[in-house]
Amino acid sequence: MYILGIETSCDETGVAIYHSTQGLISHHLYSQVSMHNDYGGVVPELASRDHIRKLIPLIKQTLSDSRLIKSDINGIAYTAGPGLMGALLVGATTARSLAWTWQIPAIAVHHMEGHLLAPMLEENPPRFPFVALLVSGGHTLLIQVDGIGQYTQLGESLDDAAGEAFDKTAKMLGLGYPGGAKVAKLAEQGNDRFKFPRPMTDRPGLDFSFSGLKTFTMNTLNKTEKTAQDKADIAFAFQKATAETLVIKCRRALRQTHLKTLVIAGGVSANTQIRNDLLIMTKKENAQLFFPRLEFCTDNGAMIAFAGCQRLLAGQQENLEIYVKPRWSIATLRGC
Ligand code: KG4
Ligand code: ZN
Repeated sequence: MYILGIETSCDETGVAIYHSTQGLISHHLYSQVSMHNDYGGVVPELASRDHIRKLIPLIKQTLSDSRLIKSDINGIAYTAGPGLMGALLVGATTARSLAWTWQIPAIAVHHMEGHLLAPMLEENPPRFPFVALLVSGGHTLLIQVDGIGQYTQLGESLDDAAGEAFDKTAKMLGLGYPGGAKVAKLAEQGNDRFKFPRPMTDRPGLDFSFSGLKTFTMNTLNKTEKTAQDKADIAFAFQKATAETLVIKCRRALRQTHLKTLVIAGGVSANTQIRNDLLIMTKKENAQLFFPRLEFCTDNGAMIAFAGCQRLLAGQQENLEIYVKPRWSIATLRGC
């Protein structure tokens, strides 16, 4: 079964074709980052307009690269939420219209379920059940995953998401948008000079809070001369504090659930320090760590094609209605 996947929830247009037994056939991504960079963040209306410009050419390119023709495609998966309303609508209307024209099913995919299942695109995929840490620009979630659609939320961020904290720190340090990878790069030049707090680790529970860390970062920066080295040292301290906080909560989640598999996904899971620290922790806990390849940590069409394929294989059906859900909790999803 060949599934066309479409991702347009934010500032990346992603398209992929996944085959149920052969795996990923082809995929393409167009990033709008340089366009939004001038504004210091994503401008929703510009994002929607650019998805309209890029989506159909990207679908054509992905189809031609795969040497398939449209009648080979057996289903279409698209991101229905969470995300920006206008951007989501571009993907949803295109997916449903194509599916109707081609007389094949379309399926609405939850963006975070896409991220969650992305490590399953790799050669050595994790097996259910596992604990998943989803860290993106909009979400920080710890989830017990017992199967597709069987998600128990263990913890979440009560304020800023981890990626948001990275992006705001980048802004303070004058690094531009999106900032996660830039903070990570600057941290490589940094020294272990400042001690930042590890928020909410001194009390029980699996929730997170990153807004205090952001304020602490700002206050620390304002007490320095703001030299290049000061900024690098701050990037180092911020990244270390974030990584350690995530490690502490993931270890707690593994112990609490008695599970031995940890999956990390979402844009922030591209961070080398976070990956390495989690690797050390999981080894000590006799557990295994799985993460997607770097290009599938951030938004992409492959994860949507994969998630949609699993749901279509399981027989999930939807009517022809075009709908999006800009706010949509992953805990409300059902198995199929
Ligand atoms: O999953 P994603 O592409 O989009 C959302 O669904 O939000 O995640 C984007 C987030 C941004 O906040 C970005 O700064 C962060 O992931 N990010 C990183 C790194 N690469 C991307 N954060 C830390 N280190 C990185 N290397
Ligand atoms: Zn995402």
